[in-house]
Amino acid sequence: MVEYNNIKLNRKSNQYLYIQLYNELKSMILNGVLTPHTKLPPIRRLANLLKINNATVVNAYKLLEQEDLVYKKVGSGTFVKNINNKDIRYIETHSEERYLDEKNRNIINSNQIQINKNTINFASATPTPDLFPVTEFKSVLNEVLDRDRGNAFGYQESQGYLPLRKAIKKYLINSNIITTIDSIQIISGAQQGIDILSKALIDYGDIVFTENPTYAGAISSFKSRGARIIGIPIEKDGIDIKALENKLKSFKPKFIYVMPNFQNPTGYSYSVEKKNKLLELAYKHDLFIIEDDYLSDLSFFSSNNQTLKSLDTENKVIYIKSFSKIFMPGLRLAFMVTPISIYNKVIAAKHMSDISTSGLIQRAFDLYLRKGIWKKHINYMENIYKKRFEIMSDSIKKYIPKEVKYDLPKGGLNFWFSLPDKYSSWDLYNFSLKNNIIFMPGSIFYVNKEDDHHFRISIASIYSSQIENSIKYFSEVINSFLKKTNNEIEKGDSYRPIL
Ligand SMILES: Cc1ncc(COP(=O)(O)O)c(C=O)c1O
Repeated sequence: MVEYNNIKLNRKSNQYLYIQLYNELKSMILNGVLTPHTKLPPIRRLANLLKINNATVVNAYKLLEQEDLVYKKVGSGTFVKNINNKDIRYIETHSEERYLDEKNRNIINSNQIQINKNTINFASATPTPDLFPVTEFKSVLNEVLDRDRGNAFGYQESQGYLPLRKAIKKYLINSNIITTIDSIQIISGAQQGIDILSKALIDYGDIVFTENPTYAGAISSFKSRGARIIGIPIEKDGIDIKALENKLKSFKPKFIYVMPNFQNPTGYSYSVEKKNKLLELAYKHDLFIIEDDYLSDLSFFSSNNQTLKSLDTENKVIYIKSFSKIFMPGLRLAFMVTPISIYNKVIAAKHMSDISTSGLIQRAFDLYLRKGIWKKHINYMENIYKKRFEIMSDSIKKYIPKEVKYDLPKGGLNFWFSLPDKYSSWDLYNFSLKNNIIFMPGSIFYVNKEDDHHFRISIASIYSSQIENSIKYFSEVINSFLKKTNNEIEKGDSYRPIL
């Protein structure tokens, strides 16, 4: 029997009662207290029980329906949906390319996006499989199986395998992050970290700040929790501090989500001044910063790749470290360093998500770190990516048409371009696709998809030997596109406003 009278609503809170009720019912659904197909109480009964208006219940039920957590049966009432199916769909749509919007899904549906072996893939920011250290990983896996036998297959504690947390604590000292093993949370990929933090920290209607453009997976997670996202422009030396200060005068965000080193998608890094200024503002406004460090290891031509976490003296930075771009994305392994003040919420959200990250993988990675194989692997990856990066930078300077503007980054995997205002990167995408080239149109990285003339290319999935020719060919394709589109604009038969 579900105890609805345990629902606590705070009439003194400045959050609307219907949002509080919605949040309570939502956690009951996500925690499994309300099981699939359970009927929610009739509106009047719940309103009487909680001593609130009928409209408050109606609005809370409406929100649950909008979030796809309940369904209505005409004449019978409101019922809890089976959310397991939803989780499966979410996992399937994890990879970055899947955040492409409706327009691209149509392209995929109409079979135009055949990524065959001749397609030049500038879109994907995932390492090529030949870079994965399969032999070394096989040997640590075998060692774990011989050592731990069945223990490697039991449930692992939600916070993470203790020896691995100890190894990570030690590893972090190299990047000047001094922390405790209690502050380290193992997660199944940085995307899960973002999602867990969203679950733990965001209530429906809360405000969240991000850089704009930003990582599309973060936008999706925050939106899925009902957050209102305010995007702060990013400049080539970091976030626009003036714009941030102005927004902080009008809004009290739950947190700001940033990538201070080799930002995705722009590749830009914050200057030391902007890193310090951002921390200063966080301290002044009592604001959490979520730092997504997915790439600081790949700093080829800059020594300014300190993480915010290493500069944070007041424990306001929640640090997320992914191993996907420098190790093996399919392991689904990453970690967070979180302030102890949010420990309880984080651990509850992690447990709700997947109970724990695979114990077997954690044990294997622990050995991998301790044996120092990790360091060798990072050096190896750095060398490969650095070579690709240099060839890419030289080729861009040599071939990319002058109408297309860019600021070359000093490391990382991504390069960001802007077309002249009247051209659409979606149109260029469609045109390039027909010529066997794919890249990421910029609009997916904008909070409201508001910009249509930027695009991102990545070196992760393209070999050094292919880069120069591919950029030369891409530049020819861009030139034809500019010419063709210009003719169409002059004829007036293609140009349409971007809404
Ligand atoms: C900025 C950023 N954060 C997080 C992720 C997700 O990483 P993971 O594979 O560790 O979940 C990505 C993946 O592309 C990313 O670009």
